[in-house]
Amino acid sequence: MSFTILGTGSAHPKYVLTNDKLSEFLDTSDEWITTRTGIKTRYISTDETLCGLATSASRHALEAAGVGAGELDLILVSTLQGDCLTPSLSCMLQRELGAQCPAFDINAACSGFLYALQTAAAFLDSGRAETVLVCAAEMMSKQVDWTDRATCVLFGDGAGSVVLKKGSGLRAMRLTARGDDRDLLVIGSHSGNNPFAQVQYPAPWLSMAGGEVFRFAVTSMVHDIRTVLEQSGLTAKEIKYVVPHQANLRILKAAAERLKLDEGQVVTGLERYGNTSSASIPLVLDELARDGRLSRGDILVFSAFGGGLTTGACVIEY
Ligand code: UT7
Repeated sequence: MSFTILGTGSAHPKYVLTNDKLSEFLDTSDEWITTRTGIKTRYISTDETLCGLATSASRHALEAAGVGAGELDLILVSTLQGDCLTPSLSCMLQRELGAQCPAFDINAACSGFLYALQTAAAFLDSGRAETVLVCAAEMMSKQVDWTDRATCVLFGDGAGSVVLKKGSGLRAMRLTARGDDRDLLVIGSHSGNNPFAQVQYPAPWLSMAGGEVFRFAVTSMVHDIRTVLEQSGLTAKEIKYVVPHQANLRILKAAAERLKLDEGQVVTGLERYGNTSSASIPLVLDELARDGRLSRGDILVFSAFGGGLTTGACVIEY
């Protein structure tokens, strides 16, 4: 059974941070960032909250779906960290939307949107929900070290939402987690003010073994997409669009080449958004929907990889 996507929405902060602006305070250049990643700009929060972005994206999705907040049976939010640890971002969003249903957050780093879709599918399949809002919202500008040129230039802020209804659109789904490789991408935390604490946590900024994550990303993307295509009995030629996690244009090109996908089949948004972690897939999906590039029945493949390390891919008939 699973779901049909009824509507999409997205939101981003208003401030556009260019590569040239970054080179004013970091030893970097537009040339390095563009050739190594494909990223030209990213949106960075100034007076926006993550709840504000999530609310705006979700209102657009509800409107596109023609669904009222009161009709929602569940709200799932994928985020590395909301505005507070508690209340969860999903509870804050529920209040802003005026919904009454249960709400909880999911953290699977950049793969979180796919983990949230699979969770929604389980609620819908078991009859515990008829209509679910899935939002992915990330404020990466809060997670990076703004003195580390190797990471802070890569990320941006944004939110994307989908409204799902019971249906038959989910053709295949694969999720993976490899805790053995957990140290390749880390955002630590504070130890609080516990006077008894003897544990030193990793710094509360993002650190990443870029090259190793790059290789993992290409390999897992290719393997995950091949697996879900096989599960759904489809070939790469039958895919209208692959909507991948937006981390690096070179990752997407390498994976597309191995999967024998045409350039036009792989959708990118990282030129403008940078890497918005789990928000990157629904942000780009919403652009496709709003530009009129999607038709009912189109075969879409989502693919993600990131901290954990986690990955996921799915095939959806739109
Ligand atoms: O979303 C979560 C998953 N994350 C990813 O998928 C990210 C995967 N990794 C990547 O996308 C790439 O590995 C990066 C974009 C992070 C790095 O690109 P790279 O081609 O792997 O570069 P590198 O780390 O090997 O660094 C090459 C050089 C180094 O200098 P030396 O040692 O050769 O002198 C870096 O210090 O580039 C230098 N460098 C920079 N130079 C200018 C690193 N960052 C910068 C920078 N500007 N911003």
